[in-house]
Amino acid sequence: MARGIPGPSGGPLLGMLPAFRRDVLGCTLDSFRRYGDIVAYPFGPRWGPLRRVVVGAYHPDDVHQVLTGTGHGFNRRTVGFEVMTEAFGYGLLTTEGDTWLRQRRTLQPLFTPKRVAGYAALMSDEARRIVADESVTPGAVVDLHRLMQRYTLRVVGRALFGEDVDEFVEDLFRLVPAVTAAIRARVVQVAQPPLSWPTPRNRRFTRLRAAQYAVVDRLLARASHQPGDRDNLVTRLRAARDPQTGQPLSAQEVRDQALIFLMAGHETTAGALTFTLDLLGRHPEAQDKVAADANLVRPALLEGMRLYPPAYVTERKVGSDTVLGGYPVPRGTMVLTSPWVTHRHPAYWPDPERFDLTRFVGNQNRPRYAYFPFGGGPRSCIGEHFAMLEAEVLMRALLDRYRVEAVGGPPQLRAYVTLRPAGPVLARLASR
Ligand code: HEM
Repeated sequence: MARGIPGPSGGPLLGMLPAFRRDVLGCTLDSFRRYGDIVAYPFGPRWGPLRRVVVGAYHPDDVHQVLTGTGHGFNRRTVGFEVMTEAFGYGLLTTEGDTWLRQRRTLQPLFTPKRVAGYAALMSDEARRIVADESVTPGAVVDLHRLMQRYTLRVVGRALFGEDVDEFVEDLFRLVPAVTAAIRARVVQVAQPPLSWPTPRNRRFTRLRAAQYAVVDRLLARASHQPGDRDNLVTRLRAARDPQTGQPLSAQEVRDQALIFLMAGHETTAGALTFTLDLLGRHPEAQDKVAADANLVRPALLEGMRLYPPAYVTERKVGSDTVLGGYPVPRGTMVLTSPWVTHRHPAYWPDPERFDLTRFVGNQNRPRYAYFPFGGGPRSCIGEHFAMLEAEVLMRALLDRYRVEAVGGPPQLRAYVTLRPAGPVLARLASR
């Protein structure tokens, strides 16, 4: 038991579980403001063998220790990752140990800045298509989130499978929120009944899993029928060899990787773009500067992801007894790190709720883990360069032609697997 760490006591039977279920963002941020850099949250009954403690590590030094320690003192054998594995199979996001290392070594060369630059033309193409969309006209009110999802799905779809994925876009629009809701429903249970038990929730979970693999299989089948010289991620996945052993990925691994890239690779980037454009829609002076100076596009995105990090929380399990933030934390404890919270740490981000893109202009001399929208350490996001390039290309194309004006209040948030807007994010587009 992690002793001495300050934190809320929660209810006698479930601890903080109901509060986390209701509002994980508010709960973690409030507790950080109240208790400080390290917080212990009880889950489950207050006494007895089912009592569990989850530790929130919010100081950049502790985040550093947790994320760079993954694979040594910390691992990903948490309920959240187990359920993700049940949903998405054994791809890069979900595997551990030697399997993960082999996959990462094999896939890393596909995501170097140089390789990713090869997708710039495809991204510009798709950005032009969005700006030319029939719903995108001067004076029109658009749902930024839907538009950005369409863009990121098309980009990752084309990069992965080499072809237009428009016929799958509607399916995926329906599937992705349903899958994330099903994952979340399973994670926040006190215990997870085996998926083979035919409960209504389990049946829904397995049905959705089958539906998303059906989409991937159709896409993979199409990618197989293309001429052999086509260069896309699937052909590269099939050709990839472990640099140390020369081994290829198995067919099932290619399938799982394709699913993970499709899922991890679009909703996060769509969120980053949507939230950033919405913020710029509320800060017209900042938007004009970004539109006039391409060097400010990146700082705007980074500041957007500071306030709205799409991967708002990551979890780890302590693999061997350790000390975190000065407190002993035993093996088996679950630890949360949260960009949502640390990105609002007042010691590094004065007036944290204010949108200010100058925070990312010039050399700011902050600790590395005061900001970590893409995680860090060995399990950091493999798609970081891809996502940043993709987002910058779209921002430039859109702001070149249009001024974005927010309509209504700031978006309501839904924090399930990723942070996303709870409903449409409306904005009026005016000619620039
Ligand atoms: C703005 C967009 C994105 C954000 C904010 C984001 C964030 C993250 C974060 C925080 C992690 C680490 C999770 C952890 O430590 O537990 C991660 C891992 C990962 N991301 Fe991203 N991501 C983005 C875009 C992408 C894209 C475009 C792709 C693929 C094309 C991608 C594929 C992956 C994969 C495969 C992993 C697992 C890496 C591993 O465990 O070795 N992500 N991402």
